[in-house]
Amino acid sequence: MHAPGYLTCDTNPLAPTRALHLHETAMGVKKLFDIAGKVALITGGSRGLGLQMAEALGEMGAKLAITARKQGELDEAAAFLGKQGYEVLTVAGDLSKFDTIPAMVDRVLEKFGTIDVLVNNAGATWGAPAEDYPAEGWNKVMNLNIDAVFFLSQDVGKRAMIPKRSGKIVNISSVAGLYGGGSGMTTIAYNTSKAALLNFTRALASEWGKYGINVNAICPGFFPSKMSRGLLEKIEKSVIAATPLGRLGGDEDLKGTIAFLASDASRHITGQYIAVDGGACIA
Ligand SMILES: NC(=O)c1ccc[n+]([C@@H]2O[C@H](COP(=O)([O-])OP(=O)(O)OC[C@H]3O[C@@H](n4cnc5c(N)ncnc54)[C@H](OP(=O)(O)O)[C@@H]3O)[C@@H](O)[C@H]2O)c1
Repeated sequence: MHAPGYLTCDTNPLAPTRALHLHETAMGVKKLFDIAGKVALITGGSRGLGLQMAEALGEMGAKLAITARKQGELDEAAAFLGKQGYEVLTVAGDLSKFDTIPAMVDRVLEKFGTIDVLVNNAGATWGAPAEDYPAEGWNKVMNLNIDAVFFLSQDVGKRAMIPKRSGKIVNISSVAGLYGGGSGMTTIAYNTSKAALLNFTRALASEWGKYGINVNAICPGFFPSKMSRGLLEKIEKSVIAATPLGRLGGDEDLKGTIAFLASDASRHITGQYIAVDGGACIA
């Protein structure tokens, strides 16, 4: 005998619905991660973190469009990715020239017909003490790290994702957006832009959830790259010492996170960030 009010499978009015629901929609985990044939646009995909993420999405079966200003580096990246059998389009352009953004999106739509995944990765930094920080540095960083992300997301959303009621946008922020600086960083525009990018992520996720678009962010810690090289030469030891896992980010360390956020494995997650930083931001 069950206590009064106890719901058995037979008496629980939710049970049949739930069973039917599970039966009808259950998807294997591998299927949830499947992005084969999807189109991924990765800004700043010619080197560094962008190239690592392009490689990961290519390996998962996505068609790739990579952007950067320098066609030479894009060609090298495309050759590297092409050798692995991935389909790659290169689109050269300066994202901080906002009026060129629609033409860059045109190129991707002409080649692949749509955009399923947008990785807003291209970014810049500028180092100077706040009291002497030049307007040129502030504007350069803000134009690329924030304004261009907005204009590109707006264009891709309006022309590709909103009409089909689906899409994944992944913004590459930084642990520098989570705290004031430390580690000898004098990069006030960069830290400000990366924090702004996190609330941009939340605000866009909040507006575009109704269109089936997930908007999330990744906050990498220090990864060796052209951008971080100068600073790491000075502070690498102290960064590693302050990182619980005792290491910098490496060539494989963003791959799982981008594969997750670009796929339906993350379909019930939006407006969030994942710090990929060896634990630096929680130490
Ligand atoms: N490395 C780290 O430790 C670290 C940590 C946290 C966050 N991040 C973030 O990760 C992202 C990638 O950084 P990274 O370290 O890989 O830097 P990176 O090696 O300097 O790569 C930057 C990429 O962006 C492109 N780019 C730069 N300015 C551009 C512009 N105006 N228009 C279009 N493309 C432009 C570059 O190509 P061109 O020069 O040819 O334009 C390159 O492909 C950035 O958003 C950065 O803030 C990096």
